[in-house]
Amino acid sequence: MYKIAVIPGDGTGAEQVEAGLKVLQAAQDKFGFKLETESYDLGGDRYKRTKEILPDSVIEELKTFDAIYLGAIGHPDVKPGILEKGLLLRLRFELDLYINLRPVKLYPGVFTPIKDKGPEDIDFVVVRENTEGLYAGAGGFLRKGTKHEIAVQESINTRFGVERCLKYAFDYCRAKRKRKKLTLCGKTNVLTYAFDLWDRVFNEIGPAYPEIERDYAHVDAISMWMVKNPEWFDVIVTDNMFGDIITDLGAMIQGGMGIAAGGNLHPSRVSMFEPIGGSAPKYTGQGIINPMASICAGAMMLDYLGQDQAAAHIEEAVAHVCSNDLKSLNAGEMGYSTLEVSELVAKRL
Ligand code: IPM
Ligand code: MN
Repeated sequence: MYKIAVIPGDGTGAEQVEAGLKVLQAAQDKFGFKLETESYDLGGDRYKRTKEILPDSVIEELKTFDAIYLGAIGHPDVKPGILEKGLLLRLRFELDLYINLRPVKLYPGVFTPIKDKGPEDIDFVVVRENTEGLYAGAGGFLRKGTKHEIAVQESINTRFGVERCLKYAFDYCRAKRKRKKLTLCGKTNVLTYAFDLWDRVFNEIGPAYPEIERDYAHVDAISMWMVKNPEWFDVIVTDNMFGDIITDLGAMIQGGMGIAAGGNLHPSRVSMFEPIGGSAPKYTGQGIINPMASICAGAMMLDYLGQDQAAAHIEEAVAHVCSNDLKSLNAGEMGYSTLEVSELVAKRL
């Protein structure tokens, strides 16, 4: 039995999570494990009602769960940054979820905007550092509001943080990937301090993993190659900001935000799983949002919890439904409602 905290969050988050839980229920029935879920009312609506975003006591409670299943954060009536920083980023930081694992995998039959590329070409994973870099919040204003204003935002890269992220990437590549190629995505030609550290640690750790081919590319070049030659990549490891950017690009080449999922991990501690797209408020309550990303996040959660068989079967069912049933992965164009899609996946499972 696993204890799961469910945070539906904002916008379509609740619909996505509801659909994902349907599939997780089917997986429990088939594979004989149990998820005990408890729902947390966090997000824009609660903030507007009570001015509370994430009480400290809730963080303490969340630490007692095996995993967190998150819908989406972002409310149209709340100023950008408040919920993102106060809820999503705070959870990542306070729970020390130092890895953001984001698979970029194109399933058969799913539309990719990349001409002449198919599922055999688009199958890699991005390991994004999730607690440091430009996200650390270091910096500030000087003379704010004047003509001489200065705004500084610093990228924090600690030896400890870089090393644990790179170690995770090497270990993941060794344990989970057949090709065993790890690409460090940086910008050593301009960010000569931050990525010098990344590069040094990368090459220091590398020899302990002789079976893994080490590769380096600048982030701008990677953006180009993700479109031109996505088949070159197996595992990409990078810092928080670059990882944020290239995984949106990755989501687009794997079929869009409707299918892209990720895990915020602290290996062996409570970790959090989410669709990587936003709350898509304009679709709220219509039942037309694609729940595949949430379903895939659920599969990643099961894999993390050690139910790898169940995870693999959910993935197979998702791929099957994508290629055989859905007209498109876009909201409103699937040919089915959000819940119907989850029922199709559950049935296939
Ligand atoms: C993501 C999102 C978040 C991020 C935002 C909502 C703070 O874009 O999970 O990729 O920048 O990390
Ligand atoms: Mn992002």
